[in-house]
Amino acid sequence: MRIILVGFGTVGQSLARILLKDRQRLVSDYGFEPQITAIIDNHGSCRDDDGLDLSEALRIKEKTGTIGKYPGKGQPNSNASRIISSSEGEVVVEATPSNFNDAEPGLSNVKKALSVGKHVVTVNKGPLALAMPALLELASHRKLELRFSGTVGGGTPFLSFATKCLPGEKILGIHGILNGTTNYMLTRMQDMSLDFHSALKEAQEKGYAETDPTNDVEGYDTAAKLVIIANWVLKRRLSLQDVAITGISKITSNSLDKAKKVGAKLKLVGRISEARATVRPEEISVSDPICVPDTLNALTFSSDHAGDVTIIGRGAGGEQTASAIIRDLVDIRREYAI
Ligand SMILES: NC(=O)c1ccc[n+]([C@@H]2O[C@H](COP(=O)([O-])OP(=O)(O)OC[C@H]3O[C@@H](n4cnc5c(N)ncnc54)[C@H](OP(=O)(O)O)[C@@H]3O)[C@@H](O)[C@H]2O)c1
Repeated sequence: MRIILVGFGTVGQSLARILLKDRQRLVSDYGFEPQITAIIDNHGSCRDDDGLDLSEALRIKEKTGTIGKYPGKGQPNSNASRIISSSEGEVVVEATPSNFNDAEPGLSNVKKALSVGKHVVTVNKGPLALAMPALLELASHRKLELRFSGTVGGGTPFLSFATKCLPGEKILGIHGILNGTTNYMLTRMQDMSLDFHSALKEAQEKGYAETDPTNDVEGYDTAAKLVIIANWVLKRRLSLQDVAITGISKITSNSLDKAKKVGAKLKLVGRISEARATVRPEEISVSDPICVPDTLNALTFSSDHAGDVTIIGRGAGGEQTASAIIRDLVDIRREYAI
């Protein structure tokens, strides 16, 4: 399998490290021996149709800040669309930043890949949050795979659990904690009586929150994940504008105390019921399995006969998310023998 990797930040580099470290095991267990034929970051790109040396790619990125400086194979051009069409490869891995305004550059990259006959594995939620029904249709029309395990739950297989472990069950709804950053902040606000700004500062210092935390604290990241679950698991054609969203920035110490008095904690809950999709702070009883601390994620599937099933795990992290990419790649290899 030849792979074009768009985005060489935390997740893209983690993917390269896992492919280097697990090379033998992936070959012996799955017959999976991928080659990365092109890598693109925001300042350049490098390509070799016979496969790039990933140790060298990681070294160059660390030393110079851009993959465009890869000796003999790098260039300052980071026009992903052109490189996707002109490079050898069966699969494009999309790992550029999630953007919930216009989903770019990810949306154009995903569309371009599918339109030139390449499968796509994306960890970028932007294109799915804004255009998932159309992208799934395009992939199916072109008889290609569009995979996105890493977009929800990082390494925790929320999406595969629902589709592979509950077949035949009617899933009536889901609810849970899908954003580790806000869950960490709320844990600190409740357990250590921190105010919102101190909790945010602490989350940024620990690398859990980005410099611009809007997508996390205002609930857009959770809403994007709800959209992906709705379309993929519940077969509902939702987009971001269909979700009623309230973040955590207006939470007061009064509401935290009120929750505590009734044996509950305030959590940023994403919920899809029969009627609607919401993201908002909710009081969750401490005995409820989704009442998890720190950066953990937890998701309950309410199904017709099996009842409520809850999965808990680490929701993000470069290595965990890269492992979800590998799951998708191995699945594509199994299905298409590439
Ligand atoms: N990190 C996680 O734990 C996690 C978990 C789940 C999902 N995700 C999703 O995975 C994606 C990547 O996350 P990350 O943490 O790896 O982000 P990141 O560290 O910010 O890396 C983003 C990469 O994309 C590159 N890039 C930005 N604009 C580009 C453009 N126009 N063309 C080509 N490359 C471009 C950046 O280039 P430079 O290096 O030159 O800046 C960088 O290499 C995001 O969509 C994120 O939401 C991340």
